[in-house]
Amino acid sequence: MSEKLGIIGYDYVEFYVGSAKMWAYWHAKALGLQFTGYSGPETGVKDRVSYYMTLNNVRIVVTSAVKPSTYEVTSFVERHGDGVKRWALRVPDVQKVFEKALSNGAIPIRYPKKFENELGYIEEAAIKLYDDAEIVFINRDNFKGVFKPGFAIPHQKLEIDCQNTGLMEIDHIVGNVRTNEMNLWANYINSSLNFETFIEFGEGDISTKYSALLSKVVRSREGAPVKNPINEPYEGLKKSQIEEYIDEYQGSGIQHVAVTTENIIETIKAMRANGVEFLSTPPDTYYQMLREKGWGIKENIDDLKKYGILCDIEGKGYLLQLFTKPVGDRPTFFYEIIQRCEGAEGFGQGNFQALFESIERDQILRGNFDKE
Ligand code: FE2
Repeated sequence: MSEKLGIIGYDYVEFYVGSAKMWAYWHAKALGLQFTGYSGPETGVKDRVSYYMTLNNVRIVVTSAVKPSTYEVTSFVERHGDGVKRWALRVPDVQKVFEKALSNGAIPIRYPKKFENELGYIEEAAIKLYDDAEIVFINRDNFKGVFKPGFAIPHQKLEIDCQNTGLMEIDHIVGNVRTNEMNLWANYINSSLNFETFIEFGEGDISTKYSALLSKVVRSREGAPVKNPINEPYEGLKKSQIEEYIDEYQGSGIQHVAVTTENIIETIKAMRANGVEFLSTPPDTYYQMLREKGWGIKENIDDLKKYGILCDIEGKGYLLQLFTKPVGDRPTFFYEIIQRCEGAEGFGQGNFQALFESIERDQILRGNFDKE
């Protein structure tokens, strides 16, 4: 593909959930997101309710059906539980990007369409992703209102006291797929969006004593800040966490969204104060190793230890990260908080062992670790 698509970056992530109001409250209280927009019967949208939540460049939409006939939402939530329905890419020309994607093999979900009101218009189109998700192309440059036509400033009085988390933007969005689906979806995204595979974790790269997975990371060839790891299970003695996700989500879908911060110590301190549960803290020996290796880490290791933050060295720099426990009722979707230091580009492979052993402890509690 010679001509550039001009993808600018992530625009928003939309969840379909059982109760949008409760999910909105959680995002406000736990992540410190603001209630920026609301859409529902009061704004002329009769069949669903959506809250548009923002902080810096983080844009999250949570949507619920308000009628059983809103089949698109109710059927999703019935099958998958609360989860990510779509993530959107901001593009300068929706028609062009959609047509290029289709000519390179993308499966259409919604053809380009204008949505307008007295404040202007937006253009949107969508292609299929995984079992039941979508990648949206959107241009909101010509709309002066809140988010999209159908949204307005929330009429509810929604003031929630919380610590400022300083979350900045979406860094990457990860999918979990079935055995033998990783290459299929990596190739699909690469050809549809002019992406390339830039990191590959094969057999033996990501495993604990008991379970394993394979992973490929695709990213924009044009330098857009969009990266998408795709995981599939790999043979192990026990059930892989990817298999657990597939079983509980009833299919393939989005596993986590990583959000950046410029000061992870302050962010995790605030999120813990806001009541967010994170994966369990690594043992003291983990931080002892960090002290011994040095790695030019500028942050105070005692602070990293206090808040349970993980650190991994990279070719060019280092990254600090931490993962929340699953947000909803099923052990499926969670958030990652990440700070990239000195130009680190990776995903914390050095932490996978600590991370997965922590997830395995939770899998055992859920009774999902032994194979059936
Ligand atoms: Fe991640």
